[in-house]
Amino acid sequence: MLINNDTIIKDNDERIRQISEDVPLPLSAEDEALLRDMYQYVIDSTDEEKAEKFNLRPAVGISAIQVGVPKKMTAIVVDDADKNGDPVRYEFMLVNPKIVSSSVQKAYLSSGEGCLSVAEEHEGHVVRSARVKVHAYDLLTDRMIEIRAHGYLAIVLQHELDHFKGTLFYDHIDNKDPFKEIPGAIEI
Ligand code: CO
Repeated sequence: MLINNDTIIKDNDERIRQISEDVPLPLSAEDEALLRDMYQYVIDSTDEEKAEKFNLRPAVGISAIQVGVPKKMTAIVVDDADKNGDPVRYEFMLVNPKIVSSSVQKAYLSSGEGCLSVAEEHEGHVVRSARVKVHAYDLLTDRMIEIRAHGYLAIVLQHELDHFKGTLFYDHIDNKDPFKEIPGAIEI
């Protein structure tokens, strides 16, 4: 599937609010091809030359509903640092990911969140769980996996899985007080 900034569904299209369904495993050839295309989008989107040439907006994740397919599939590529400050890349092609536990402690990105389906900026704290545990089938490694995520990866996972429910990041922003202090929350 051709995925670029013109074909990605935006929030003025009601399909972005659709609920996504579980995907039968093993994956059909069609579902596998779509998930691989989504992953390639994310990889290529952070390559400046390719992004410019193919009209890609830089992203760390994309979910299938964003290309009009209401199925629980998401591709994520997050570059972060580990405890020692060394660079680490977390990358997944997830099918039917499910949050099985989440911390009471909250976290948010100090710079706020963005989304391929949202053209405008929406400022404010998007308050999420600081840590989540996710179970999924991962096409990249061809196995069932458990992800124990904290920090930026935990935020990205929750953002992408929200798309399965038709939820967008700005739905979490308190319009009356967008930068409200959240006691005990981690600022990332
Ligand atoms: Co998004």
